[in-house]
Amino acid sequence: MDKIRVCVAGATGWVGRSLIPAIQDAGDMSIVGAVARSSSGKDIGDILNVKGLSLMIKSSVRDALEVPTDVLVDFTSPESVKSNVLTAIRNGVGVVVGTSGLSDEDYDEIGREAVKEEVGVIAAGNFAISAALLLHFSVLAAKHMPSWEVVDFASSKKVDAPSGMTRELAYRLSKVGRPVSEIPVSDVKGIKEARGASVNHTQVHSIRLPGTVIGAEVLFGKPDERLSIRYDAGTSAQPYIDGTLLAIRKVQKFKGLKRGLDSILDL
Ligand SMILES: NC(=O)c1ccc[n+]([C@@H]2O[C@H](COP(=O)([O-])OP(=O)(O)OC[C@H]3O[C@@H](n4cnc5c(N)ncnc54)[C@H](OP(=O)(O)O)[C@@H]3O)[C@@H](O)[C@H]2O)c1
Repeated sequence: MDKIRVCVAGATGWVGRSLIPAIQDAGDMSIVGAVARSSSGKDIGDILNVKGLSLMIKSSVRDALEVPTDVLVDFTSPESVKSNVLTAIRNGVGVVVGTSGLSDEDYDEIGREAVKEEVGVIAAGNFAISAALLLHFSVLAAKHMPSWEVVDFASSKKVDAPSGMTRELAYRLSKVGRPVSEIPVSDVKGIKEARGASVNHTQVHSIRLPGTVIGAEVLFGKPDERLSIRYDAGTSAQPYIDGTLLAIRKVQKFKGLKRGLDSILDL
């Protein structure tokens, strides 16, 4: 069987530098493209010290996709991800989107383009299995617990808020319904912002602190009972790598956009 030809945008980043050796080690895929601005022109194999890999880093996805490619993986930045994804789709290349910061409207546009160009796109705000399970169980719980709010945790260095995972969570919960709230935020006395931000009608409270990596807690309430479902990431990128490899393997098997790693797991 032919290997899946993969281009990684964000090749020198925290995720990219763990993802590239993992792709190189996987028997069913190969690295054909690497994108990053500050190291463009250098050899990604040398930079990451990956044996048997010699490939010049390109400064843009457009340049990298001049080489025949099956799947683009994007772990870059909220500023560049949308144009990278659209460029890949318009070149007939499947996309695995790990970068956060895209809105529901961005995803609608990406989904329409993917259908039009007949390519698959998988976007997950968090490619860790435990984050996928948090999404899955939260959607299940929302069907039985009518009131909920979300606490979104990340390090003090994270520039975007809420996290991609929390946006995805709020989006998925909105498909179940709107949470029941006895006092709408508009009727709150005092400082309304203390009730958090409304994301797809879910109140989200973003915490940004040193010592935190990333996480989310969904709190469900009903008279006389409470349920919380919480996910906390550790410090290594490994959990995202495993989920991303799975997404690379699945993304060529359908057309259009799928959001959330749970959408491709057998749950
Ligand atoms: N879905 C998930 O499971 C998951 C997990 C972890 C992180 N993330 C998200 O993934 C993104 C990347 O995270 P990270 O921690 O790996 O970030 P990072 O360490 O800052 O790395 C970003 C990488 O992207 C490159 N880059 C940035 N802007 C670019 C542009 N305009 N064109 C080309 N390359 C560009 C950077 O190189 P240059 O600056 O040299 O261009 C670098 O290689 C973030 O949005 C983060 O929130 C998602």
